[in-house]
Formats: sequence, structure tokens, C-alpha cells
Amino acid sequence: MSSLSGRVTFEDVGFAYEAEAGKVLCGMSFDIEPGSSIALVGVSGAGKTTVTNLFARLYDPQGDSILVDGEDITEFTLKSLRDSTTFVP
Ligand SMILES: Nc1ncnc2c1ncn2[C@@H]1O[C@H](COP(=O)(O)OP(=O)(O)O)[C@@H](O)[C@H]1O
Ligand SMILES: [Mg+2]
Repeated sequence: MSSLSGRVTFEDVGFAYEAEAGKVLCGMSFDIEPGSSIALVGVSGAGKTTVTNLFARLYDPQGDSILVDGEDITEFTLKSLRDSTTFVP
């Protein structure tokens, strides 16, 4: 993962922490251009932290995929994924 340009793509991502509680994210798709800065804005409980949790692979999405430079993040090792990203809580 050393020579990434850093395009981040969510493709129809869905996620539920608990099946009974229902989906927290449903059909979420977006594409972040390399080198760009974006803000994820929403009310408390909308799912912003869940998006970052999924990107860091603290959980894996149910449904389609999360891609970096067109490659599914499950194809990278956790170490290389996390070595290439920074999370500021
Ligand atoms: N670990 C968890 N277990 C179960 N439900 C959770 C967990 N974390 C968050 N949620 C629920 O998922 C939804 C989205 O939460 P979150 O992603 O933290 O929202 P935001 O960061 O936008 O405030 C909320 O309904 C929240 O209660
Ligand atoms: Mg949050």
C-alpha cells in the first residue's frame, strides 16, 4: 500500500451493529478524490463515526464494498491499511 494516490470509494455500503436494531448505514455511496478534504456532516447518531469505523476496519461492511484506489480494503492487510491512514478522535 506504499504508492497510493488515496481515492476512497464507498459502494452501496450497509451496516448494522445489531440486526435487531436495524441498519445504521444503508446504500451509502461516495467517492473522495485523492488530495481533497471533505467533511462528513450530520446530526448526532447519523452514522459519521460508523463510516470511520468501517474505513479503519474496526467492523466490516455488510453489503458492498469500501475501496482505496479501486481495491477492496479487505484485500489489504490491516497493518498496511492502518499504517496508511490517520484517525484523530
Ligand atoms: N458500538 C455500537 N453498538 C451499537 N450501536 C451503535 C454503536 N455505535 C454506534 N451505534 C449506533 O449507530 C448509530 C450511528 O452512530 P454513530 O456512527 O456514532 O453516529 P455519529 O458519529 O454520526 O454521531 C446510532 O444510532 C448509534 O446509537
Ligand atoms: Mg461520532
